[in-house]
Order: sequence, then C-alpha cells, then structure tokens
Amino acid sequence: MKNLLFTPYRLNGIELKNRFIMAPLTRSRATSPNEVPNALMAEYYGQRTSAGLIIAEATQVSLQGMGYANTPGIYSQEQIEGWKLTTEEVHKKRGKIFLQIWHSGRISASKVNGLQPVGPSAKIANDTSVYIFDGAPNGDATFVPVEEPRALTHKEVKETINDFRTAAKNAIEAGFDGVEIHGANGYLVDQFLRSNSNQRTDEYGGSKEKRTRFLIELVQAISEEIGKEKLGVRMSPFISFKDMSDPEILDTMLIAADKLEQIGIAYIHLCEADWDDAPIIPADFRVRLRSTFSKTIIATGNKTPEEGHELLSQELVDLIGFGRNFISNPDYPLRVEKNAEITKITDNHTLFGGGSARGYTDYPFLEN
Ligand SMILES: Cc1cc2nc3c(=O)[nH]c(=O)nc-3n(C[C@H](O)[C@H](O)[C@H](O)COP(=O)(O)O)c2cc1C
Repeated sequence: MKNLLFTPYRLNGIELKNRFIMAPLTRSRATSPNEVPNALMAEYYGQRTSAGLIIAEATQVSLQGMGYANTPGIYSQEQIEGWKLTTEEVHKKRGKIFLQIWHSGRISASKVNGLQPVGPSAKIANDTSVYIFDGAPNGDATFVPVEEPRALTHKEVKETINDFRTAAKNAIEAGFDGVEIHGANGYLVDQFLRSNSNQRTDEYGGSKEKRTRFLIELVQAISEEIGKEKLGVRMSPFISFKDMSDPEILDTMLIAADKLEQIGIAYIHLCEADWDDAPIIPADFRVRLRSTFSKTIIATGNKTPEEGHELLSQELVDLIGFGRNFISNPDYPLRVEKNAEITKITDNHTLFGGGSARGYTDYPFLEN
C-alpha cells in the first residue's frame, strides 16, 4: 500500500500536493545588521519545494522579539522585500509556504539585540543560552547565557499583540500563503501558557484559562487582519527544556485548542520532539486533541515515513512535519518514494550558519 504521505490534502482551500510538511527551522542566515532575508535563503527554500507545505523559520515580529543572531525579521519594509525573494522562488516552483512568526521573550540576551529580554514575568530561564556570532573560527556560533527578563507591562502586552498583527500583515504582503504563530519551545507565547514562567496577576495570568489569553488575543488579532483560514498555531505540549516544566500544560493546551476550534483557525501544529531524548506522546492526548479540534492537525518530531503513514491511517493527525531530514535532503519526499538513501546532517556547526552556504544549500539532490 502506498504511504499516505503521498496523498494530496486540502488545507482550508490551499491544495497541498502531499502531506510532507517542512517544519520551521532556524538557520540564522539573514543579513545583519537589520536581519534581512536574502537570495541565499530564497535558494534554500526553493530547493525544498517538494514538500507539500514549507513552514519557513521562526521570524521575529520586532527587534525586542529577537533571541539569536542572524534570525530574520518581518517588521521592516526591507525585510518584507527580502522575503519576497523566497516566496517568489517557492511559488515559481509551485510550492506553498507559510511564515512562522515569533517573539523569543525571555530567551534572549542584550548581546543579541542590545535590549534587556522581556517576558510575562521577571523570571529567568535557568540553564539556557542563546548564540551570537562574534568572529569564532569557521564562523561558529558562541553561546551566551540568557539574561533576567523584565515583565511586560499591560500596555506592552497589547503592543506586542499589535506587533504580531503587523507581522502577519507584512507576511501576506511579502507573498506568504499564511502564517504560523510560534507558540512552542519555550518562547514568548509558550511562556504565557505556562505556570512557571507566567506569574502575572492581571488578566493574562493566574489560571490556566487566563494563561491562554495572550495566545487567543494574538489569534483574534491576526484572524481579523489576514483571515483565520490562513493562520496556524504551533505548540509543544511535551517539552520541558528552557526551564519550561509545567504540570498543568496539557490541560492548558486543550483549553487553548477548544478556543482555537471556536475561532476556526486552519491548523494546530504539534511540536512533539526536538532531539532524540524527547518523551513519547501518550496516544490519549492525540485522541483528546482530535475530539477538541476538528480542523487540520500537523505532528512533527522524530517521525519516520512509516510512523507518519501509521499516524495518518489512524486519522489522529492530517499532515506530518519533518525537520532535520529536510535540512540534509532538499528532495526528501522523492527519496522516500524511491526508497533512496537519506543523507545525514554532516556538520552540526552549520545548522546555525551566520550567512554561510556551507551545510545550507550544498546538500545533494538525488539526481546529481
Ligand atoms: C536546526 C533546527 C532549528 C529549528 N528551528 C525551529 C524554529 O525556528 N521554529 C520551531 O518551531 N521549531 C524549530 N525547530 C524544531 C523543528 O521544527 C522540529 O520540530 C524538530 O527538528 C523535530 O523534528 P525532526 O525530528 O523531524 O527534525 C528547529 C530544529 C532544528 C534541528
């Protein structure tokens, strides 16, 4: 039987040729200063249009929202123009592409953007670092510890929601087919969701329900701006890294999912595992999520094509995301189809690359 990953899918009116999703992958190749997307990035994304949908890397909605060096932004006209290179290249090759919009919150340091980090509360993420490029040999990144954040004022929370709204509008102007809110992996939206990082006493904190409010206001604002059918949300219920352990998180995410269902966004994207030691996802969470949220669900994290097929056949998810395999195999779906060899990432130092094509656009295609 043919792997279900090869069946087309209709994502709220957007025709996807298959169910392989290229997961968002920070690669730190934007041109700095000003964090402008460039022709090298357009070439990289253009190489990966065999995916049914590309979700382009986490892209900050403001300078304050920047957490690592050389990550792209989507808040200036120069950045919008830079992203047009990518969307034009992807569309020319008949691909589809969303942009992941991002605020790193407390996961940042003044060495990255010259600013003190901000968060829901003035609570540092222990044992967590970010990287800068400071002239180390080979262009390698240098890791620096995150700094104590200050709590966003109520007014700043509203302004941040507005930054996301503007970023979504800019993404559509830049030619993206839609946007994904980065609500995963310990960054600002996730920081609002969790009891340990969110100790606010206003309407954005204090109970599970109130901790979902920031995300839901973002979703409402962006839906008004670009349409709910062009909007997805990524969440990572099972992570604990970046000091994010929270016993209430599964319930909180299901409360959020219920609200996202009522608003009617395009999809929820589960970021299930980052590295190889991630926990197994309990099947009952998938069942509960499926019964709460009727639209598209994407699952990403350490999936083999066989596991992807299995999950699709159980109808608990609709699309499967692949991260690292798309880094080192620009034509990953073709390789799966032909049962061809899968290239491994050869050098982890090139994952976050400070402008270099090495380990970025030089992974081979099958035909070569
Ligand atoms: C180099 C690298 C960069 C990543 N950047 C992002 C990102 O910008 N946004 C995000 O939500 N997840 C990011 N992730 C997580 C991936 O989207 C994905 O969930 C993870 O790699 C697990 O999938 P995989 O096992 O198929 O690689 C990143 C992962 C890697 C390896």
